[in-house]
Amino acid sequence: MKLIFLGPPGAGKGTIASRICEEFEIPHISTGDLFRKAIKEQTDLGKKVQAIIESGDLVPDSLTVELVKERLDKQDVEKGYILDGFPRTIVQADALSEFSSVDAVINFTITDEQVIKRLAGRRLCKACGAGYHVDTIKPKKEGICDKCGGELIIRPDDAPEAIKNRLSVYYKSTEPLIDYYSNKNLIKDVDGSGAVDKVIKDTRAIIASM
Ligand code: AP5
Repeated sequence: MKLIFLGPPGAGKGTIASRICEEFEIPHISTGDLFRKAIKEQTDLGKKVQAIIESGDLVPDSLTVELVKERLDKQDVEKGYILDGFPRTIVQADALSEFSSVDAVINFTITDEQVIKRLAGRRLCKACGAGYHVDTIKPKKEGICDKCGGELIIRPDDAPEAIKNRLSVYYKSTEPLIDYYSNKNLIKDVDGSGAVDKVIKDTRAIIASM
């Protein structure tokens, strides 16, 4: 099962991917998470991409494709995987087609107003990366991760200016992938605006129908 999760920032790609991957025991490959890990560890890659990510721009295609290609060379992808946030440009999609097949592209739909509400209220565990929301997915104890007790923080690219930029980058560079994959009969739309359990149920139904 090789899936791509597509959708605007804050559509819930990461939240749904982590639950589905746990259930199907396949790796959740999020380019955003891989970049954030590199930044945290201050690797050469992390230093190169930090300012780009904080502003909400896209990391150059060449660096991103190389990162995913290396990740897909690992043994754990044998049963399949979910690519969350990759590809994000036509160049990346063309590159991916040279080293992996794709079974379906799940496109999570959500309005711009919901994007802003979700990203403005998102909190992330500094230690394990688990995601929360101040209104909808609250931790048991405010500011503390339920899973590991780590501190919950705001992502630098969830600042209002960066959110605005990420949305415009999405419409310019990523939305064209909907047509790209529709032409290959791979797009499956899921309404990402409902409650998490409903979105998971709809995603599962698509997987079951594949
Ligand atoms: P990335 O981390 O991929 O960011 P993104 O695509 O903008 O997506 P998000 O992580 O913001 O949102 P999401 O859809 O995963 O939503 P989430 O589940 O967190 O990328 C970050 C940056 O890295 C990019 O801007 C770029 O610079 C770089 N990058 C990454 N990939 C790249 C690539 N391929 N090429 C070039 N550059 C790349 O949910 C959001 C919030 O809503 C959370 O608080 C969550 O708890 C809540 N929530 C989720 N679902 C629901 C629901 N159904 N109901 C209520 N609340 C919900």
